[in-house]
Amino acid sequence: MNGKQLQEYFDQLDDAHGDESVSSGKRTVRKRESSRKEREARLFIRAQEVSREFRFTYKAARFEEAWLLDSLAQLADHQWIADVLRKVKGGKEASLYLCKPGGAVKSDYVAAKIYRPRALRNLKRDAEYRVGRVDLDADGTALWKEADKNAIAKRTSYGEEVRHQSWIAYEFATMELLSAAGADVPIPYAMEKNAIVMEFIGDGLQPAPMLNAVNLGHAEARRLFDRVVHNVDIMLSQDRIHGDLSAYNILYLNGGIKLIDFPQVVLPQGNPSAWRIFLRDMTRVCDYFSTQGVHCDAYKTAADLWTARGHRIVEKVHPRFLDPENPADRKMWDKR
Ligand SMILES: Nc1ncnc2c1ncn2[C@@H]1O[C@H](COP(=O)(O)OP(=O)(O)OP(=O)(O)O)[C@@H](O)[C@H]1O
Ligand SMILES: [Mg+2]
Repeated sequence: MNGKQLQEYFDQLDDAHGDESVSSGKRTVRKRESSRKEREARLFIRAQEVSREFRFTYKAARFEEAWLLDSLAQLADHQWIADVLRKVKGGKEASLYLCKPGGAVKSDYVAAKIYRPRALRNLKRDAEYRVGRVDLDADGTALWKEADKNAIAKRTSYGEEVRHQSWIAYEFATMELLSAAGADVPIPYAMEKNAIVMEFIGDGLQPAPMLNAVNLGHAEARRLFDRVVHNVDIMLSQDRIHGDLSAYNILYLNGGIKLIDFPQVVLPQGNPSAWRIFLRDMTRVCDYFSTQGVHCDAYKTAADLWTARGHRIVEKVHPRFLDPENPADRKMWDKR
């Protein structure tokens, strides 16, 4: 499947899931229905073509199957995965699948995080995170072609594709960086197109719970809070801020933690919102740990880490970057 065909196919996949708009006349509805059926038929044929190269155990719905086959065929070719066993989580932006690895990984299971086609199209305020970040290509190297950079700036459909790819590449590159720096993150194995293969954090087939679903004893809560702070500091030492850190993006297994979900990672230098985003991360972490009996001062913890790494605290925030839906942001607004 070439790039153009793939794009077409993604459009169809998006439409097939999202074409719920109300139409005026009955005739328009019928026309839309028939062209939808036509697209579905074409998509199904294509899925069949790919499935000759790669089959898996998980019984997916028809569109999901086509999407999985297309996303994972290359990873299977390269022995990162041998089989898809089941869907662990389905999200708005990405879904996580439990897979059996191929010969390239020595473990019982791996996780494949697969982004929905152009999922980030709906991402609110992604510009805020991208300030000061160089966009990356599918190999994780900085984009150098002016045409690509211009396409992103102009938001052409090709540009959106490049931007989407850059977002995924950031997640993978960050996991590689942090893993090498000794942070508690799943081991990243491979990235191809819209999928990342990484260590599966779980007990046998059972995925580890998110920290927010776990009640900790007092001593363990204190120990894990310190561990999260330690990880946040490792991130800072690597010039990275998580950007969406909370007990929802920390997994808990055997008394330890793993930080996950890095596409929105922020660079402290060159992003005027960096301090605020960093403080928001720490506030959310403290929100959880306070419910577990840990006395923590989010501002002080964040400020100590931040200044110890040589950064200045810049309190001024452009109101454009505040999210009224977010209690932590509202708190910050009240403080102003
Ligand atoms: N390596 C992993 N091992 C086990 N489970 C994982 C792993 N990575 C992610 N998960 C599970 O999949 C869920 C979604 O992953 P992640 O947070 O990276 O994606 P997301 O796009 O932010 O999805 P969501 O919007 O649901 O948070 C996580 O909340 C976690 O439960
Ligand atoms: Mg998440």
